[in-house]
Amino acid sequence: MNQISILGIFVADICFFSNSIPIRGQTILGTNHILGPGGKGSNQAIAAARSGGKVNLITKIGKDTYGDMALSLYKESGVSLESIIIDSNLSTGVAGIFIDQTTGDNAINVIPGAAGKLVPEDIDNQLENLRNSKIFLTQLETPIETTLYGLKKAKELGCITILNPAPATELHEDVFKNIDFFTPNEIEAGFYLDTTLESNSDIEAAGKEFLNKGVKNIIITLGSKGSYFANKEESFFLEALKLKSEVIDTTGAGDAFNGALSVALANNLSYKNSILFATKVSGISTTKQGAANSIPTKKEIDSY
Ligand code: RIB
Repeated sequence: MNQISILGIFVADICFFSNSIPIRGQTILGTNHILGPGGKGSNQAIAAARSGGKVNLITKIGKDTYGDMALSLYKESGVSLESIIIDSNLSTGVAGIFIDQTTGDNAINVIPGAAGKLVPEDIDNQLENLRNSKIFLTQLETPIETTLYGLKKAKELGCITILNPAPATELHEDVFKNIDFFTPNEIEAGFYLDTTLESNSDIEAAGKEFLNKGVKNIIITLGSKGSYFANKEESFFLEALKLKSEVIDTTGAGDAFNGALSVALANNLSYKNSILFATKVSGISTTKQGAANSIPTKKEIDSY
């Protein structure tokens, strides 16, 4: 099976559900809270493993209760423990998430903790794993120097690289040439181009600009409106999945998309079918509460 290496953070998500997201200076009474596994890289690893991928996650956790939460999740989901660094001097990170349960929208504050201490030498210790990987997937929650070093090494070693630029962070123009698939949502895409994407023609124009920057394939995710794909040969819009139940929590939907996408690409599905598969996994995840815990299993995906 083709290996997928993912660099990213694990944190414990503390999620607060209510009928709105509090604004500055406001106190609201919520309805319930849950504590569960999160962190974009870790969520993507779970999505890839549950979608049938052979997954190697490069991350750092502490030797503590939240670290144990990560390890039991990986054992249960089949994510390899080989590249998980456990540092007893550091604490596993945490995220505070406010969720509007009427729309599924959220606001997130992440403290990366131990994973915020990933350094380029941690990538150097994984070169054999990267050499054996078909795909390298990462985001922008790990320290930027480490992330960019990981992308560069993965590209040199022949991986297909996917950068999910979340949270949107300034990138040097040189970075784009190391990216085979760039997967911003529409807000993140707007951040990189210093614009707002409102119409389909704005999205198409943005796609062209990313290709001109050196990205090989651009996928702009559009939430309930689906997604847009472009490369030098083709471009198309795809609709979102028609869901069988209400959207209650969109936390981790982008992660479900990226993890599932990596598996489809590793299995040589066409780009259109890869995005359709990722759209399905991501859509199902929005009908359940939590980040990693909302990601469907292979059985659920196949039967949906
Ligand atoms: O994408 C959702 C994730 O972002 C959450 O799990 C949270 O931990 C933050 O990393």
